Amino acid sequence: MQQDKFPDRENQLLDSFKRSITYLRISLTDRCNLRCIYCTPKDDHAKLAFGELLTYEELLRIVSIAVRLGINKVRLTGGEPLLRRNVLSFIKRLTAIPGLNDIRITTNGTCLTDFSRDLYTAGIRKLNISLDTLKPRRFEQISGADLFSKVWSGIQEVKEQGFYTVKINMVVMRGVNDDELVDFGRLSIDEPFQVRFIEFMPIGEKTSWSNEMYMPMEEIKKRLESMGRLSPVKTGSMEGPARVYRFDGAAGAIGFISPVSHRFCSKCNRLRLTSEGRLRSCLLLDRETDLKAILRSGGSDEDIKNVFIETILNKPEGHTLQEGNPVNCHGRMSRIGG
Ligand code: 5AD
Ligand code: SF4
Repeated sequence: MQQDKFPDRENQLLDSFKRSITYLRISLTDRCNLRCIYCTPKDDHAKLAFGELLTYEELLRIVSIAVRLGINKVRLTGGEPLLRRNVLSFIKRLTAIPGLNDIRITTNGTCLTDFSRDLYTAGIRKLNISLDTLKPRRFEQISGADLFSKVWSGIQEVKEQGFYTVKINMVVMRGVNDDELVDFGRLSIDEPFQVRFIEFMPIGEKTSWSNEMYMPMEEIKKRLESMGRLSPVKTGSMEGPARVYRFDGAAGAIGFISPVSHRFCSKCNRLRLTSEGRLRSCLLLDRETDLKAILRSGGSDEDIKNVFIETILNKPEGHTLQEGNPVNCHGRMSRIGG
């Protein structure tokens, strides 16, 4: 009989650093209708062929096994996940997996006017929407598409639909959008959104990352504090690595995601499934196992389960960005999952 590395592993996957792994992020497609400067490599239009993506059947099989192992939260991301064909029927089947009660989506917001009602009906309540500027012309400069008003209508629509909490993710880039920090702060006062400021990370190759463009959380926070007092808000353990604050009397909240200046690896509970079907334990480390190859060569559920276990056992303690080390992440954000 095979030795069990996790004697009581069903429903409790601990890694080598005693972190409980409960969260799987899935990049549904590497395709996107935007080309954001922090994510998309310059001069590079390579896209995966349809056959290189996991099929919905394969994804459902993998997620069902992961849930039996203790995963209880899934995020669909990309690329732009809502661009994948028949995504709603997949989401409906995903919500039917017993034990999986927390499904979230990260989207660029460009398709939300078409999708918000159906997503809500399918049971989705939590959306993260990327929005790096409130200025239409600048939106086009950052993302390559003149779609600000489409995204803004989508954001208003999900609010009216009753999604809660809508999170707005802004990647802060000095010299690009840092003059809008106060405007985004005001958005958190006027609207019931959690507006999140994300430190710019050097991920992938040939993106526009430069050290000068990086702005640390403390500096962002100081700028916001010129508007008023920020009081810390307690968050649940499922709410991820954001440090959350609120302006007095605000309808919404502020979140800081500061992977560079405040490493949160000791609390990291996640695995990633890339759009090519590779299981990855850390965003910033190019170490993956090809689950798709195992599936397509007739692998059993037990084989898939073992890949999860190995990946979890090999999850690194964390990254070394803080020490100024170069990252070992050359993969594309759209495939790894933003
Ligand atoms: N640095 C920080 N966040 C990034 N994202 C993508 N690339 C980066 C990067 N280089 C995140 C942002 C964005 C989402 C799609 O992925 O949160 O909103
Ligand atoms: Fe988790 Fe790796 Fe990100 Fe650290 S760098 S938070 S370990 S995914």
